[in-house]
Amino acid sequence: MGSLVRTELSIVFVLLLSLFHLKCHGIEEVKGYPASVNCATQECAPYKVIQSQKEFEIRVYNNSTWVSSPVTTSASYKDAVRDGFITLFNYVRGYNRAKVNWNMTAPVLTEILPKSSFQVYFYLPKKLQNNPPPPYENQHITPVKLPRKKFGAVTRFSGYLDDANIAAGLSTLKKNLKGTPWQSASASSDYSAADYNPPYQVKDRVNEVILWFDKN
Ligand SMILES: *[C@@H]1O[C@H](CO)[C@@H](O)[C@H](O)[C@H]1NC(C)=O
Ligand SMILES: *[C@@H]1O[C@H](CO)[C@@H](O)[C@H](O)[C@H]1NC(C)=O
Ligand SMILES: *[C@@H]1O[C@H](CO)[C@@H](O)[C@H](O)[C@H]1NC(C)=O
Repeated sequence: MGSLVRTELSIVFVLLLSLFHLKCHGIEEVKGYPASVNCATQECAPYKVIQSQKEFEIRVYNNSTWVSSPVTTSASYKDAVRDGFITLFNYVRGYNRAKVNWNMTAPVLTEILPKSSFQVYFYLPKKLQNNPPPPYENQHITPVKLPRKKFGAVTRFSGYLDDANIAAGLSTLKKNLKGTPWQSASASSDYSAADYNPPYQVKDRVNEVILWFDKN
């Protein structure tokens, strides 16, 4: 009798142990999207993933220094990014008052504003975070601290970013956030598109739509 109870107890114990293991294992397996391949050779803006699901992930970014080109009203995302990119790329390649240059970072971040307006940002590498090279006045480049909001809800897709896939990404992201603990994010209208790869890279392209929000 005593040994039967002991056997039953040990079965219960083993069951509990495996349940516990499953649970921990499940938590460990929650990982964010893999780093874009070029982040192995380029500095990419760091972030921390605090929740990951199949359709999206929630990130926290440290407040860090980026440089922005002016807000432009453009016919399309692609036009806006081409213009902003050239302005910022020249600055990176040494057209600045300090005449210093550095390697491209990733991603190229573009804030999508109402009325077909856009603002393009480059992340400054670690060594320049606290001393952004001063731009010439006629460059209209501004160092800024980002993000303005604490959290980013992120969806990822491949290909080349354009107005259509950005809009589709945003709408899917908002739909997927409904009914989750991050529901409040879906009411935000503050969003950006992130392009991680140079245009000549055709394979393994990584694009993101990031919806910025403050936790409620
Ligand atoms: C943010 O900054 C702190 C302090 O420098 C650092 O410990 C942490 O790893 C950073 N987090 C991210 C996501 O970069
Ligand atoms: C710039 O990139 C090249 C090629 O990846 C690398 O060899 C070099 O060390 C980088 N320079 C800096 C300052 O990070
Ligand atoms: C980052 O810093 C800027 C400027 O100090 C501030 O406006 C912004 O709210 C900060 N963002 C976060 C998420 O703390």
